[in-house]
Amino acid sequence: MLILSVESSCDETAVAVVENGRKVLADEIFSQVALHEIYGGVVPEIAARSHLEVITLLADRALKTAGVARRDIDAVACTYAPGLIGAVLVGVNFAKSAALALGVPLIPVHHIRGHIAANYLAYPELEPPFLCLAISGGNTMLVDVRDYTDMAILGQTRDDAAGECFDKSARVLGLGYPGGKPIDDLSKQGDDHAYELPRPYVNDGNPYDMSFSGLKTAVVNLAHHAEQTGEPLDKAGLAASLCRAVSESLVGRTMTAAAELGYGHIAVAGGVAANSRIRHDFEAACQKAGKTLYVPPLRLCGDNAAMIGAQGYYEFLAGHVADSSLNAYATMPL
Ligand code: KG4
Repeated sequence: MLILSVESSCDETAVAVVENGRKVLADEIFSQVALHEIYGGVVPEIAARSHLEVITLLADRALKTAGVARRDIDAVACTYAPGLIGAVLVGVNFAKSAALALGVPLIPVHHIRGHIAANYLAYPELEPPFLCLAISGGNTMLVDVRDYTDMAILGQTRDDAAGECFDKSARVLGLGYPGGKPIDDLSKQGDDHAYELPRPYVNDGNPYDMSFSGLKTAVVNLAHHAEQTGEPLDKAGLAASLCRAVSESLVGRTMTAAAELGYGHIAVAGGVAANSRIRHDFEAACQKAGKTLYVPPLRLCGDNAAMIGAQGYYEFLAGHVADSSLNAYATMPL
């Protein structure tokens, strides 16, 4: 089954062609970073307008790269939630029109389910059930993936996402947007014990819930203090200490959940899964605990449409298709 898939929830416009949920025939991505970086973050209206400009071109290119004709497409899948609403609307509307024009089913896909499914593209042998930590710019959640379309959130951030913590910290350190990669790069030159940053703790209920706003505020306060007093700031040491703090809070909870639920297979997904400290710490922890780790290659960690085509296939098999009244949503339970 060939699925034409669309992703437009934030600042990447993407269109892919995916076969049977596992094989990527084309994966076109247009990154809008250059449009937003002068503002230090994504400007929703600029994002939506940019999606509108390039989405048709990308679809055309994806079909050419895949070497398939329009009549070969069996279904169209799209991210319909969650995301910046104006941005998601563009992808949903394009997908609806494409499905109508091609006379094929329309498959709505939850963006975070898509991130989790990026692992199916990277690891043909991976099948549910498994535990997945989904860490991106807008979401941070520990998910019990019971089946391809049956998932439960075990814990999630109470405030900022891990990616938000990296992005805001990078901004205050003058490292640009998006900030995860520059912090990751700089951290490699720093001492990860240079600063004792708070470990986000939530101890009023769910042990798998997380919090990152306190950590972000600690970095912001250190940067402001250095600015006001003229004391030197060890930016590389701060970046390394931040990566350590984020990683420890994510890896520890995930490993505890895997032990308690008896999972031997652990997956990580989302843009923040590109972080080298987090990848390294998960590898070490899984090796020590005798668990198998699945982390997508960097290209599949960030937003892309191939992951939407992968999840779309399993949503289709489960009968989750939409009619022409499909709408877009800024928020949506998993
Ligand atoms: O999954 P994604 O592309 O978009 C969302 O669905 O949100 O994730 C983007 C996030 C941004 O916060 C970005 O700073 C972060 O992923 N990111 C990283 C790294 N590369 C991207 N965070 C930490 N280390 C990285 N190497």
